[in-house]
Amino acid sequence: MKTKTYSESQECIQPLSMDFLTVAQQAAIASYPWVGKGKKNEADGAGTEAMRNQMNLINMQGLIVIGEGEMDEAPMLYIGEELGTGKGPQVDIAVDPVEGTNLMSKGQDNSLTVIAVSPRGSLLHAPDMYMHKIAVGPRAKGCIDIEATLTENMKSVAKAIGKNITELKVMIQDRPRHDDLIKQVFDAGAIVKLFSDGDVTGAIATAIDEMDVDILVGTGGAPEGVIAATALKCLGGDFQAKLAPRNQEEFNRCIQMGLADPDKVLTIDEIVKSDDCFFVATGITDGILLKGVRKKDGTIITNSLIAGGGSIQNFQFIEARHL
Ligand code: FBP
Repeated sequence: MKTKTYSESQECIQPLSMDFLTVAQQAAIASYPWVGKGKKNEADGAGTEAMRNQMNLINMQGLIVIGEGEMDEAPMLYIGEELGTGKGPQVDIAVDPVEGTNLMSKGQDNSLTVIAVSPRGSLLHAPDMYMHKIAVGPRAKGCIDIEATLTENMKSVAKAIGKNITELKVMIQDRPRHDDLIKQVFDAGAIVKLFSDGDVTGAIATAIDEMDVDILVGTGGAPEGVIAATALKCLGGDFQAKLAPRNQEEFNRCIQMGLADPDKVLTIDEIVKSDDCFFVATGITDGILLKGVRKKDGTIITNSLIAGGGSIQNFQFIEARHL
């Protein structure tokens, strides 16, 4: 397959978003029977297979840039796998069939299927390692600096959105590595919202008013970071990141994957280099963003978020009944 870079591509990819909505819905439905069964791999496998089958029906030249791992560790949706009918636009695809596998396997809230799509060559090929992240909604765009302290970021975000710092709500994943961040929120008199898993949801929450979150900050998976950055690009928010290799091997891995300077600050436009991108999520279990899959009188009900960037820039919540 000949590869064009995103800047050469003339074809708008937004028309594919409805096809990808079906992909996310089918993946969530396929994972749903495994909710609360303590079987992470089975749920992930079911979601992955449904995604792959559905993506192969789409008129596109799709390339998995973030998936279930390298070819030798993932039988499906491995990095570099080509999907689609081979006709249509060339796109980069980042997927997490079950974001929050622990939550899903324990029958807890907030697991979902997430997908980010952007023209070929425009999504960061993030290694599977940790990444420092900070995310905000549209009103605080341009006011974050991942190299500054959280205290400084809170001051600048509060000013941008016209809130007192004591009214700011900061989402942080409940991990010992975040103790200092949590302390900075308490010391500033701001409000912390801790969550156990699923930082893609936390990042999106900053850009949707009703979710009442001002900042997402912390260290989580780099693949999830790319997906969250795409969502925020479509929602008009902002995102900055820095890869966090834990040892020389991970540092070398960044370089192998084309990241010449792994310590570099990554802006939202460096993570997602095109505005012509879109993001889709479907709830698996109920959550703060989306309701989970439900069955009623032989009908399966799904709830999804679909957000488009570029000239489209909008988002919709879609409840579908699958007969
Ligand atoms: P999975 O979807 O792989 O289960 O990831 C869930 C998650 O909470 C992510 O949202 C987050 O980025 C990452 O795990 C954090 O990793 P860790 O559990 O090691 O703190």
